[in-house]
Amino acid sequence: MHARKSFVSIAGLSRKDILHLITMAAEAEREPNRKILDGRIVATLFFEPSTRTRLSFETAANRLGAKVIGFSDPKVTSSTKGETLNDTIRMVSNYADVIVMRHYLEGAALYASEIADKPVINAGDGAHQHPTQTMLDLYSIYKTQGTLDDLDICLVGDLKYGRTVHSLIQALRHFSPRFHFVAPRELAMPEVYKQQLTEWGIPFEEHTELDAQAIGSADILYMTRVQRERFQDLAEYEKVKNLYVLRASMLSAARNNMKILHPLPRVNEIAYDVDDTPFAYYFKQAENGLYMREAIICDVLGIKL
Ligand code: NCD
Repeated sequence: MHARKSFVSIAGLSRKDILHLITMAAEAEREPNRKILDGRIVATLFFEPSTRTRLSFETAANRLGAKVIGFSDPKVTSSTKGETLNDTIRMVSNYADVIVMRHYLEGAALYASEIADKPVINAGDGAHQHPTQTMLDLYSIYKTQGTLDDLDICLVGDLKYGRTVHSLIQALRHFSPRFHFVAPRELAMPEVYKQQLTEWGIPFEEHTELDAQAIGSADILYMTRVQRERFQDLAEYEKVKNLYVLRASMLSAARNNMKILHPLPRVNEIAYDVDDTPFAYYFKQAENGLYMREAIICDVLGIKL
């Protein structure tokens, strides 16, 4: 039996671990259908809404020959009867070989990984982390730039509540990035992450405008959605929801190698006319998620691709 190896936070991954997973994802992309998980069961427990993350995990499991159980809506589960997360996780870990979980509470995945005697994969915990998204973001950056090293990464939008950007900056610390943060003051990158960057000696600049200068100095332009569900006061959301809308006409200053990423779903941040430009990469990025999630499921099970 393999050792239990959960995937709950990006912080514990070394440069070597990240590059290893990228190599595995490339191998999964070369041959996505291989029945190496025949007889295994993957549970997908989604306490928060999801489209891509859940469907790509389930597709990954199916393409590898595993079977999938789970729920996409906690309203149909015993959590509405008051069952604790502890009890749900204990029980599911008796049924499945791997647990993929998204939860609205920060730290829920770590907690689950301490209870379960099967690997737990964090598919997003509140505004905290989204490490599998980060791995597919890194795979996308690697594929489009040919490297992860020494890149200018411009993160735009909701840097306060956006869990994908929190995980991404932590992972990129191994690769000497230069960060440009574009956010309104209300949604600025939290101090705790900025302090980490300072400790690691990683330069970052903060801007409030998405202008030609910000766009022209990026190798990767990472757009994000304002996380409506995390606002206490929806009037505050209304003030900031449409601050940044990227349009094709704004891309004339872009570097030739520049690619636009977005974890999706987009609401208003990227106009449809951007989709037809050579800079748009977000749909391919979502496809890359399938290969990276095949790699991650195999990795936590101790299987090499
Ligand atoms: C992201 C998430 O859930 O954090 N979506 C995703 O997993 N692709 C980003 C978002 O919801 O805005």
